[in-house]
Amino acid sequence: MNVGVLASGTGSNLQALIDAAGHDELGPARLAVVGVNVPDCGALTRARAAGLATFVIDHRAHPTRDAFDQAVLAALRPHAVDLVVLAGFMRILTPAFLAAFSGRVINVHPSLLPAFPGVHSQAQAFRHGAKISGCTVHFVETGVDSGPIIAQTAVAVRDDDDEERLRLRILAEEHRLLPAVVRQIAEGRVSVQGRRVHVAPG
Ligand code: GRF
Repeated sequence: MNVGVLASGTGSNLQALIDAAGHDELGPARLAVVGVNVPDCGALTRARAAGLATFVIDHRAHPTRDAFDQAVLAALRPHAVDLVVLAGFMRILTPAFLAAFSGRVINVHPSLLPAFPGVHSQAQAFRHGAKISGCTVHFVETGVDSGPIIAQTAVAVRDDDDEERLRLRILAEEHRLLPAVVRQIAEGRVSVQGRRVHVAPG
């Protein structure tokens, strides 16, 4: 199964996927290509260092979301991508993009959805006074962070936490959860009925 990863930032989730692939922990999933929308982002450096195929499509060079998404679709096409993984990809995908990869786009989000969607979710949870937060891997649908939930990991908020410490502990769990879900999907163990996602045992 060919995986296309889209990222915008530091790329630590991408690195977790690269490391998992290196340890043969992605099952039949293969990292086919990494696309970024921020020309000098850490994710691009990490992808190149791992010898992966890459593309850069700067959203600022495209007048509309549709034009940007069509450019990304065109860049993915030669790599015969079966699954798109959003690993810190800070763009909202258009319905046309999602239709092209219907049910085959997943995202990692740093909260226990449906709590704290959007940006700065770890800080939102901390400031709200949540006692438990965590991370979620979900299918992407139109709407922000709203698709069917595949897997979640809870992270306790400690009395002596600050936003940064909480963010880092959640991030460490993202790094475990995302490769595990990619493997489950690649092994054909993930099925969806409405909003409910079933993961068959490995
Ligand atoms: C992660 O917390 C991800 O969930 C969020 O942005 C962060 C990206 O981190 N959307 P990285 O680029 O994978 O290091």
